[in-house]
Amino acid sequence: MKLNPQDFVVMKGARPIPMLTAYNCPVARSIEEAEVPVILVGDTVGMVEMGFDSTRDVTIEHMEYHIGAVRRGAKETHIIGDLPYGTDVDPETALTNAQRLIRAGADSVKLEGANVQVIRHLVEHNIPVVGHTGLLPQTAKNFKQVGRSSEEATRILNDAQAIEDAGAFMVVLEHIPYSLAGEITKALSIPTIGIGAGPDCDGQVLVINDALGLGDYWPPFSKQYAYVSKTVLKVANEFSREVGSRKFPSNIIQFTGTN
Ligand code: KIV
Ligand code: NA
Repeated sequence: MKLNPQDFVVMKGARPIPMLTAYNCPVARSIEEAEVPVILVGDTVGMVEMGFDSTRDVTIEHMEYHIGAVRRGAKETHIIGDLPYGTDVDPETALTNAQRLIRAGADSVKLEGANVQVIRHLVEHNIPVVGHTGLLPQTAKNFKQVGRSSEEATRILNDAQAIEDAGAFMVVLEHIPYSLAGEITKALSIPTIGIGAGPDCDGQVLVINDALGLGDYWPPFSKQYAYVSKTVLKVANEFSREVGSRKFPSNIIQFTGTN
């Protein structure tokens, strides 16, 4: 059963919310089968799937393509679609782009930063919004932890509060000190979803490629539950060897079907 924004708010303080990213249909299908209640089609797709150095290269068309694929694989799961860099520069532009993501299959949209005018405008037009503060990959100069100084910590806490006040139903906290994430989680009445933000958030999100061990770099705060790149290497090697030695395809078991 697909959860709506209010269901996630009710989960705050009651049970932790697991969230995974997904970018394609079969992975989304498995995540839905595992009953993970929310999938993020993040603009991380640009880095972990498309080979760009930055999420800034991701376009609204890329997001529509991936959201469509994920929706076809996970018809009964809440899908959050990221508004990519430059698509939320003002309220009207953000609304047009958010509507495109919703039409592509998203249930809500996520945007980076305490952009309160944009968040308000989307919410007024019935588009559920997820906020995102702490490390903001679209505009950050590097991927280091933020919020270590007391000024920066106060600014992030205020941003999280402003995101809630503007009408967001959930907020992602990325790569901040665990104590700050705990403080924000206590202060807000909407759920906080952490990535590199410690155990005191209301939920946790991982980039699926990091969780799968798919790729050649994984952030230190992520966890590899498998090493899929090793499996791909093994399969490619074995296939190549078997074609070379004519072991595959077998000449013993002949295919006799009609399709
Ligand atoms: O794009 C993404 O995958 C994200 C998560 C890292 C929160 O924004
Ligand atoms: Na993102």
